[in-house]
Amino acid sequence: MLIKKPADIRSSEITTPQIYQDRRRFFKLSALTGAAALLAGTATRRARAEGEKLPNVQPGPFGTNEERTPLEDVTRYNNFYEFGTDKSDPALYAHTLRTHPWTVRVEGHCENPGSYALEDFLAPHALQERVYRLRCVEAWSMVIPWVGIPLGDLLKRFQPTSNAKYVEFVTLLDPEQMPGQKSPVLNWPYREGLRIDEAMHPLTLFAVGLYGEVLPNQNGAPLRLVVPWKYGFKSIKSIVAVRFTEEQPVTSWAQQNPTEYGFYANVNPAVDHPRWSQKKERRIGEFFRRETLPFNGYADQVAGLYSGMDLHQYF
Ligand code: MTE
Repeated sequence: MLIKKPADIRSSEITTPQIYQDRRRFFKLSALTGAAALLAGTATRRARAEGEKLPNVQPGPFGTNEERTPLEDVTRYNNFYEFGTDKSDPALYAHTLRTHPWTVRVEGHCENPGSYALEDFLAPHALQERVYRLRCVEAWSMVIPWVGIPLGDLLKRFQPTSNAKYVEFVTLLDPEQMPGQKSPVLNWPYREGLRIDEAMHPLTLFAVGLYGEVLPNQNGAPLRLVVPWKYGFKSIKSIVAVRFTEEQPVTSWAQQNPTEYGFYANVNPAVDHPRWSQKKERRIGEFFRRETLPFNGYADQVAGLYSGMDLHQYF
C-alpha cells in the first residue's frame, strides 16, 4: 500500500482554513435540512444492510407500469466486471465488497468539494421509487423499481460553478475487494461521465436500492447511477468519486473500444453496434424480442437535450 509521507503531500491536497469553514457551513446546512427531512420521513443517516427494507420511500415521477423483471433476474443476471465477466459472477462473488463505511469524494469545479460519509451525502434527500427500463448495449433489457434520489437535487448542494460542463463518476478501486480488477479487461477503476445538463435532468437517478430494499452488492451498492435513456454501461456502480469537469471525461468503455462505445451512448435503434443490430432487444424473462425505442422510450423527456446534434456521429 502506498502511504504518503508529509513531503509527498501536495499543498493542493491540504484543506485551507477557507475550505474548512465552507465545509463546516455546508455540514451545518446539510444537518439542518437533514433534520427537517428526517422529520418529514426521508433518507437515512445510518448504514443499512443489503436487503434491508428502506423506509419512507415515496413513488416518484416518470415510472413505467410495464411488468417488472423478477427480483431473481435483476440480482442474478448482472454486468459488474469488477467481479468477473460472466452474468452470473457478480451474484456469486460481490459479497467481498464492503459497503460500510463508504466515502464519496466531490471534486472539481464546485463550491463545496470534500469527502463525505455516504450518510451525510444522502441525508437531506427524500427517497423515491422509479420504475425504469434498463437497456443494455448487449441487446437485453429489464424493468427495475429503483429507489434513489434525483441526481440533480444532490449535485446542486455542491454548487457546481459555470466551469462545470461535465460530471465524471468513478467506481472504487480495490482489487482485494473487487478481484476482477486483477485482470486487465478494462482500465480500472471503471469511469463514466455525463454532460452537466444530462446529469441535472430530472430522470437521472442516484440509486441506493431496488424493490424497496438496500441495493444488493452485485447491483452496485451502496450507490450507483441510473440513466434510463442510455445504454446500461453509463449506469456506473459502487461510486466513490463525483468530479465536476470542464473537459469531456474519458470513460471506461469508450477508452477500451472507441469505435464500439461512445460517450453519449443514447439508446438508438437507428445506430447499430458494429458487431450487432440495436433494432431489437430481449426483455429478460420473455421469449420474443421486442422493438427497441429511441432513447429507450424516454424521447419525450430527453430528445431536446440533443437537438442539432448528429446522433450517428455522437453515438
Ligand atoms: N459499473 C461498474 N463499476 N462496472 C461494470 O462492469 N457494468 C455496466 C453498468 N455499470 C458495470 C457498471 C453495464 S455494461 C450494465 S448493462 C449495467 O451496469 C448493469 O447493471 P445491473 O447489473 O444492475 O443490471
